[in-house]
Amino acid sequence: MTTYLSGIQSSGLQHLGNYFGAIRRHVEGAAEPGEHFYFIADYHSLTTSRDPVTLREQVRETAITYLALGLDVERAALFRQSDVPEVCELTWLLSCLTGMGLLERAHSYKDKIARGVKPNVGLFTYPILMAADILAYDSTHVPVGKDQKQHVEMTQDIAQSFNAIYGEVFVRPEPVIPGDERLARVPGLDGEKMSKSYGNDLWIFEEGKKLKKAVGRIPTDSRPPDEPKDPEGLLLFDFLALFVEPEELDDWRQRVQVGGAGAPGYGHLKQRLIEGIDANLGPARERRRELLAHPAEVDAILAAGAERARARARATRDRALEACGLRG
Ligand code: ADP
Ligand code: TRP
Repeated sequence: MTTYLSGIQSSGLQHLGNYFGAIRRHVEGAAEPGEHFYFIADYHSLTTSRDPVTLREQVRETAITYLALGLDVERAALFRQSDVPEVCELTWLLSCLTGMGLLERAHSYKDKIARGVKPNVGLFTYPILMAADILAYDSTHVPVGKDQKQHVEMTQDIAQSFNAIYGEVFVRPEPVIPGDERLARVPGLDGEKMSKSYGNDLWIFEEGKKLKKAVGRIPTDSRPPDEPKDPEGLLLFDFLALFVEPEELDDWRQRVQVGGAGAPGYGHLKQRLIEGIDANLGPARERRRELLAHPAEVDAILAAGAERARARARATRDRALEACGLRG
């Protein structure tokens, strides 16, 4: 059976990288045949979050983000990771056969250390919790951005170690990364990978003055509009590519390349980008506002999603406990 599963951390507001690399693909992918599980990784958020009020708000905001962007909750279960405690039981079983070396090689962990983060044990064992998330639902396809590919590959290794010792308990998952590099790694407002932790992100629902200010931060240079330029080197075009149709993009590219009187200035292109964002995401902003006014509806959707997810996770947990000799 084909089972799609992905999670997204609820620390901070979801940004355009999360949208193109993950959420939009989950929403569109829910139409594919198979089962679909999408969850808010609140246990993972605890590796960094220390404020209960903020965490609670961010979990609801993340759920609303999915709903406003059109996730079909009849087809896909949307739930909170912590509503499925079986995942924590599986995490322990998997921890007992995961080598320290595997975790020490995790890029995301190494990057955080390199940036001066003082790691807690949860941050170090983060990939094991993620492996438990994936394996709990017998997931076959895991749609994520490029930065999460290694974590899914670690899950493959962990599942293989478990199965080699105890028999075929877990299903091997495959990461599904967008083929288009522009979606697999959306740049931030400074040209680095867009990330909540780099302060270079643009919230999916940003609008008005704040949106204008954020777009204004995209670096340009002082060359005049009529000077011919290579559009490949302009970060602004990476953003435009996400929001305007390919034909229109080609037209802008050509005009920039040729220069002269018909060439747009950076301000003009930034204005077009804002219009593109408004046209693509404006309707979802309205749905978000409606959902914010109906928190009980959102909670009911999460509860129903958790019930569906838990039934699957319980069966996997039972199978794993029995295989290890803890039951039966
Ligand atoms: P962040 O780096 O902002 O903390 P997360 O780690 O919570 O983001 O990522 C959630 C999902 O969004 C993952 O599937 C991840 O691969 C994807 N993602 C995050 N940043 C980007 C980006 N800049 N481009 C494409 N996908 C991204
Ligand atoms: N680590 C992922 C991220 O930061 C979130 C996540 C947790 C996840 N568990 C998962 C993604 C399982 C896919 C599958 O984005």
